[in-house]
Amino acid sequence: MIKQAIVPLAGLGTRLLPLTSVLPKELLPINGKPGLEYILEEGVNAGIKEFIFIISRKKKEIKKYFYNDSFYKKIIKKKNKNKRLMLEFAKIRKYKKKIKFIYQDVPRGTGDAVLKCKNYIRSKYFLLLLPDDLIIKNNCSQSMIRLHTKYKSSVIASKKVKKKDVSRWGIFDLKKFNKNSFFIKDVIEKPSIKNAPSNYAIIGRYILPKEIFKILQNQKPGKNAEIHITDAIKTLINKKEKFLGHIFSGKYLDCGTMAGYINSSIKISKL
Ligand code: G1P
Repeated sequence: MIKQAIVPLAGLGTRLLPLTSVLPKELLPINGKPGLEYILEEGVNAGIKEFIFIISRKKKEIKKYFYNDSFYKKIIKKKNKNKRLMLEFAKIRKYKKKIKFIYQDVPRGTGDAVLKCKNYIRSKYFLLLLPDDLIIKNNCSQSMIRLHTKYKSSVIASKKVKKKDVSRWGIFDLKKFNKNSFFIKDVIEKPSIKNAPSNYAIIGRYILPKEIFKILQNQKPGKNAEIHITDAIKTLINKKEKFLGHIFSGKYLDCGTMAGYINSSIKISKL
């Protein structure tokens, strides 16, 4: 069973400046609540018991968001046990019990962040959630865990994107086997339009095997001198690890860019 999830949170958030000059992007409100809470909700509802958050010393506010007990206790007393505050505090405390914090002070890429969790993953497979990608209306992690349980394979979320946009994503080479799933033959991190093997993109939900840590340990930096999780996945595919792509049915919101972030709040507020 998949009970642990890794959530990389040490990125600089430059695409969301100037907002991220004072607040980590994952705490920016989307329709009244931090984007990070949507990720936690999805994970908890999919059965995740432990979240490993990778933060940096510059993004300590993320830890503070969950470790502010004395502040809440004081304010709740002062406000005569205000019901809304009590509910919010109870929710945050519940999450806090499920989160472990790990530090990545130099942002060397998603693969490097994942590698920092090597000694904490207990089962054969774990879930990786990228917080820039919100998927609402339908729990993507839950349907991926179902697929994993059925086929005993690694699983990555996918979405068809416009051909002209392929360079924004990791892109799959694939072989379809039913309407919502495919075998992954290869992956390429942010290819040019000319080199893209398809227009099926990697979206930030992965079920990965523990073996990936061994690969990451020896991996050389790739595009933009970063250690990419995509490159480690490519190596695993070459070593014949079975990977399935899951075309999820929820609604995808890209919160990693300013336009996408603004659009997410609008879309969620209309639900
Ligand atoms: C990362 C991955 C990329 C994937 C994307 C999904 O890119 O490297 O393969 O398609 O997440 O959001 P980033 O958004 O960090 O540039």
